[in-house]
Amino acid sequence: MPPSETSTTGTPTPDWPALRAVATEAMRRAYAPYSRFPVGVAGLVDDGRVVSGCNVENASYGLTLCAECGMVSDLARTGGGRLVAVACVGGDGRPLMPCGRCRQLLWEHGGADMMIETVSLGIVPLRDVLPDAFGPENLAGARA
Ligand code: THU
Repeated sequence: MPPSETSTTGTPTPDWPALRAVATEAMRRAYAPYSRFPVGVAGLVDDGRVVSGCNVENASYGLTLCAECGMVSDLARTGGGRLVAVACVGGDGRPLMPCGRCRQLLWEHGGADMMIETVSLGIVPLRDVLPDAFGPENLAGARA
């Protein structure tokens, strides 16, 4: 099943179970020998593409790449665009909240209206889980 259908407005409509399935598939590729905490994430792009990522750890723990980092790299690598909907899962395939840093990454590439599947709030816009966010617009006109 494709993770989206295209609405009459041209914006793809997320198929959440299908998006979660892509995230779960990505999670199974995680390289997490240190935490043993695999994570997968999948994002629907405004042109209908689906991008995904898994966490990739490092013996130097602080250099760990969250799954969202891989997904954002996949987004850029495959042509860019805006994230419309994101599902992140843990090792049990159930929703997992992106960490604070990764919410900022999602903000950069999806913005306030990007929909995210949460653990306790259902499917909500990113603004609900990153209120009063700092973003690219805050840099406008800031250069001397
Ligand atoms: N992790 C992610 O991949 N994304 C998140 O948003 C939360 C945490 C990973 C990083 C590390 O490999 C493992 O989960 C345990 O923190």
